[in-house]
Amino acid sequence: MSRQAKQSHPALESRNITRDTLSFPIRCARVTAPRRRGITVHGHGQEHLKILLRSSAIQKRVREIGLQISKDYKGQRVHLIGVLKGAAIFLSDLVRQIRVEVSLDFMSVSSYGHGRQSSGQVRLNKDLDTSIEGLNVIVVEDILDTGLTLGYLMRVLQQRKPNSLKIAALLDKPERRIKKEVKADYIGFQIPNEFVVGYGLDYAERYRNLKDVCILSLPPS
Ligand code: IMP
Ligand code: MG
Repeated sequence: MSRQAKQSHPALESRNITRDTLSFPIRCARVTAPRRRGITVHGHGQEHLKILLRSSAIQKRVREIGLQISKDYKGQRVHLIGVLKGAAIFLSDLVRQIRVEVSLDFMSVSSYGHGRQSSGQVRLNKDLDTSIEGLNVIVVEDILDTGLTLGYLMRVLQQRKPNSLKIAALLDKPERRIKKEVKADYIGFQIPNEFVVGYGLDYAERYRNLKDVCILSLPPS
């Protein structure tokens, strides 16, 4: 097993990392390995980053998702709900690729407590500014991982009587899913069980600004 594979997501949890957190399908690419193995980009200290998804591939996929949403909602308005903070960059690119009428709102939740394992409890840190009753809502998330966050959000939002409720997730890590029933309607890329950063995704609040999505490897503890 590669060093990156060993330092996958559960490994990060075992380091007691608290994460800010805030789920088809159109066809999505399945990414199985770094596109160019051996390319290490800038990391903090001894942290190493390897490119998994290049910026050009992300931009192309975001354009495709925007086009699909524009077709699916032709003649209607869509209300995008960005899940802060991870989805901020995906949402800001996606919204500019949508050709139908769009409105925006944001929520912030955390799906992990201070323990090492996911508590399964999701806390709402910031609620919506406006009602979603009767609206065609698309929740925009950076990554669908265990599904706890989006499972919770879908339950909460469904109670508010939107006309329709869908999910757009840039990344999907199916191997990690706990809430199997949570499925995204629009997915950018299915990725392997690795901890990734960039394009909005962070490690301890860092790396959100990377244009590529990279696999993060930590120094041995
Ligand atoms: P879930 O509730 O486990 O599906 O977690 C979703 C949230 O966990 C996402 O919104 C991300 O903020 C965070 N997350 C999950 N996997 C990763 C990752 O590989 N890198 C960075 N953040 C992640
Ligand atoms: Mg995050």
